[in-house]
Amino acid sequence: MKFFVDSADIEEIGELNDLGLVDGVTTNPSLIMKSGRQIRDVVGQICGIVKGPVSAEVTATDYAGMIEQAEFLDAIADNIAVKVPSTLDGFRACKTLRERGRAVNVTLCFSATQALLAAKAGATFISPFVGRIDDMAGDGMAVVGEIRRIYDNYGFKTQVLASSIRTVNHVRRAALLGADAATIPPATLRALASHPLTDKGLEAFLADWRKTGQVIG
Ligand code: E4P
Repeated sequence: MKFFVDSADIEEIGELNDLGLVDGVTTNPSLIMKSGRQIRDVVGQICGIVKGPVSAEVTATDYAGMIEQAEFLDAIADNIAVKVPSTLDGFRACKTLRERGRAVNVTLCFSATQALLAAKAGATFISPFVGRIDDMAGDGMAVVGEIRRIYDNYGFKTQVLASSIRTVNHVRRAALLGADAATIPPATLRALASHPLTDKGLEAFLADWRKTGQVIG
């Protein structure tokens, strides 16, 4: 399972990348806003740090505008994946961009039928927004499971990128369902490593080790 960092925070991305936890990055207009920087500058810098796909999102809502913005974003670096929304214009833009050899992440996906259209348009990634579905009393993971099953039924190559991840349990369940990737906020990505029994066990081992008076090496 690939781990993408859902962030435009250069420091966080750099640290997590150094830890070997980063297979890619996803940004969106809200994350770019938070960065306080120009999209070309911040996304360009991220692409210099991370080798894998870095998603950058169009803000146009019509087909022609999406294509124009997608070409601008794609020119930022070789590892850009252009994000387009799960709309009819977005699926059309996805098809055109894929025919041009661009990587495309179809975002704001909330249903299996949207994911089916994205796959038929040749999307590289589909991003079901698990947390936002849960926020509306839906079952985000059920949507991930349906998408996985539909893609497997027909052999679609589109990668399922579990998005809007809020908890370590979301990551665990997405992995169990066979999501190809998850895009995870930095704090949640770090939290995947933590367990109180690891901390407790380490503390006890180190206390006993000190009593031996030994040094390794
Ligand atoms: C996905 O690509 C989005 O950037 C992201 O996962 C949205 O998450 P949110 O619902 O926490 O904003």
